Amino acid sequence: MSAHEPIGPHAILDKKKRYMIPCTYHFYRDPPQIVRGQGVHLYDSTGKRYLDLYSGVSVHALGHCHPELVEAICEQVRTLQHATTIYLTEPIVNLAEQLATVLPGEICRTFFCCSGSEANEGAALLATLHTGRNEFLAFQNGLHGRTKLGMSLTGLSFWRTDPHPVGGITLVPPPHCFRCPWGQAQGQCRFECIDAVERAILTSTSGKPAAMFVEPVQGNGGIMVPPPEYFPRLREVLSRHGALLIADEVQTGFGRTGRMFAMERWNVTPDIVTGGKALGGARLWVSSPRRTRSPPPIPGRAPPPSAATP
Ligand SMILES: Cc1ncc(COP(=O)(O)O)c(C=O)c1O
Repeated sequence: MSAHEPIGPHAILDKKKRYMIPCTYHFYRDPPQIVRGQGVHLYDSTGKRYLDLYSGVSVHALGHCHPELVEAICEQVRTLQHATTIYLTEPIVNLAEQLATVLPGEICRTFFCCSGSEANEGAALLATLHTGRNEFLAFQNGLHGRTKLGMSLTGLSFWRTDPHPVGGITLVPPPHCFRCPWGQAQGQCRFECIDAVERAILTSTSGKPAAMFVEPVQGNGGIMVPPPEYFPRLREVLSRHGALLIADEVQTGFGRTGRMFAMERWNVTPDIVTGGKALGGARLWVSSPRRTRSPPPIPGRAPPPSAATP
């Protein structure tokens, strides 16, 4: 492939306006054109260097362009780019096996797809197939993706631009000790936020939700860390109503909170974990709704054959 003349930020913006659906924002009046990343730094088209505290929204756990990661990607692409999952390839099962050694509790099976949103879609499907139920709970201020369902599960108006969200989803208040909606102080409350979840199940669902989606630490909602008692108590409530717990570890997973998965901090094993970002190092390949051993296999259902590269 021949190198081409760079067109520069203004021409890029112009092309974006003409040829791309206007659903991505920049947050800047004059966004820089990023041309290169190395370790913790990004470089723009003028050669200016930035310390990348954003990390591609928690994607670059190894920094930009880590030579070992780049080499592994190039080696695979040089050898076999894609073969569909209807044939056998070795790397995909080896990665799934490796994941089983770090996933919490007895979780040991992985489904690979292409983004965090898709991972959450897969998790919702799995929960529905397993429970025979179709309603979901999620947190206000939570973020679970930009697909139709992912956006409907999202409780942040800025990210919830779909004026016609999917039905059957109830958003409940998250544990927010810093600005408790009940005016309580951490350590002195009666866990009104847990009561609110149970009340929502009883009053705003059929009483039989399939599952609740949670971010262990809300990311886009303001890095909200729940008190230690919260998730064990939530688990109890959900179990009492036969609902699964789905931990969206797309942002918190793979060591970002000092544990491999943030849920480990509360000694709570979810039924399904979704992941992405830091696992792929580039948001490219892998996100994984995973399942516990307990849900039975789903006969006759296969992921789309193009779902994963080898
Ligand atoms: C917690 C969480 N879940 C899901 C997603 C969606 O992931 P993706 O953008 O890869 O579809 C994000 C993206 O920022 C996220 O932060």
